[in-house]
Amino acid sequence: MNVLVIGSGGREHALAWKLAQSPQVERVFVAPGNGGTADDAGGRIRNVALDLADPTALRSFRLVVIGPEAPLADGIVDRLQAVGVRCFGPTAAAARLEASKAFAKAFMARHAIPTARAEVFSDYAAALAYLRRVDYPVVIKASGLAAGKGVIVPEMLAEAEVALYRIMVERQFGAAGDEVLIEERLAGPEVSLLAFCDGHTVVTMPAAQDHKRVFDGDRGPNTGGMGAYAPAPIAPPDLVRELTATILQPVVDGMAAEGSPYVGVLYAGLMLTAAGPRVLEFNCRFGDPETQAILPLLASDLLEVCEACVDGVLDRVTVRWQNAAAATVVAASEGYPGDYPRGRTITGSEAAAALPGVVVFHAGTQRLADGRFVTDGGRVLAVTGVGADLRQALDRAYAGMRCIHFDGMHYRRDIGAKQ
Ligand code: AMP
Ligand code: GLY
Repeated sequence: MNVLVIGSGGREHALAWKLAQSPQVERVFVAPGNGGTADDAGGRIRNVALDLADPTALRSFRLVVIGPEAPLADGIVDRLQAVGVRCFGPTAAAARLEASKAFAKAFMARHAIPTARAEVFSDYAAALAYLRRVDYPVVIKASGLAAGKGVIVPEMLAEAEVALYRIMVERQFGAAGDEVLIEERLAGPEVSLLAFCDGHTVVTMPAAQDHKRVFDGDRGPNTGGMGAYAPAPIAPPDLVRELTATILQPVVDGMAAEGSPYVGVLYAGLMLTAAGPRVLEFNCRFGDPETQAILPLLASDLLEVCEACVDGVLDRVTVRWQNAAAATVVAASEGYPGDYPRGRTITGSEAAAALPGVVVFHAGTQRLADGRFVTDGGRVLAVTGVGADLRQALDRAYAGMRCIHFDGMHYRRDIGAKQ
């Protein structure tokens, strides 16, 4: 049987790579995919051009796995389910946990889930007045989807006022900024906790840490994520159990109680503050690049786990993890996260992938007819190292990265260094 992955990033390459390991899967198609998913796993991973506006065209797939948040928020799962296509991911109603930060904040208040205090505004004058009055440091957030750019952490009031003006008056993020949250600014290390969910059961994955800033030492502008590792030593198993019991399970229980059962991956972005763990955000999907670090640790068959979620029988599956660590380093194009060139030749990715414990996941790449890979995006590829511990995983990831070259390539040298 064939399965379909929707999306085009490193996360989707990792999903396809893991699904292709299932003995039950003949082929994994990726729409639209990237250079790495054009022909991988001995031809078992392929790209396909599909018209997603015609859900009946997807009926031949045993399962459809959705990578990014935009189609989920837009109701792709509802549309596919309506024509009988089995689909791993939340409905539009459940995806509001990510697509509306105002919804998520109110939901957390209803279910006593710990998060930063926030006020929601749809009126600019009222928001500005509140901002000038509030006596603690704040973060400004566009409520809707803004491709990871909708959160501003201002250093001073003037900066916060500019952010508010851009979002609410200039409508920098369009309708995503119709509602704005002015949120208490918290401090502490961050951890990403992802879980498989079937509407009532929650199975947590190893905790991961992302590296958002483009340069070493967490300097420079925010990116989609420059590296990740798992399991994060900052969230040992006891803490993961506590976070599951106090955050993830109450979210899934609350969504079920409110009539929007949550099926798919629930991603909690958490801050471990001095006063305890707090939710910064929810995502309704796998993280990128967390997935490239987490899935190589999954010992179970991903197809089986996803299907158990879709069928509401996750409690009947034992999800097993390797007793190992994984680290992912992202190589980006010159200029990223600003403007960047495309079409630069990439060499060495096969040599990197041939090293022990190294997997290369493509993101912004294209495969030309002559078999060459060229750059075609900001985050170009990710190299994951798997090892007995984080040190070995990092050594392997960086050994792989040193094999790879394209003009203007840059990557962080300090992934996992804060341990
Ligand atoms: P989000 O998209 O909500 O995860 O926000 C992106 C980043 O902004 C997070 O990873 C944090 O580094 C930062 N952030 C978000 N909310 C807060 C907050 N309440 N206090 C401090 N930093 C925050
Ligand atoms: N790595 C952050 C995200 O996927 O949203």
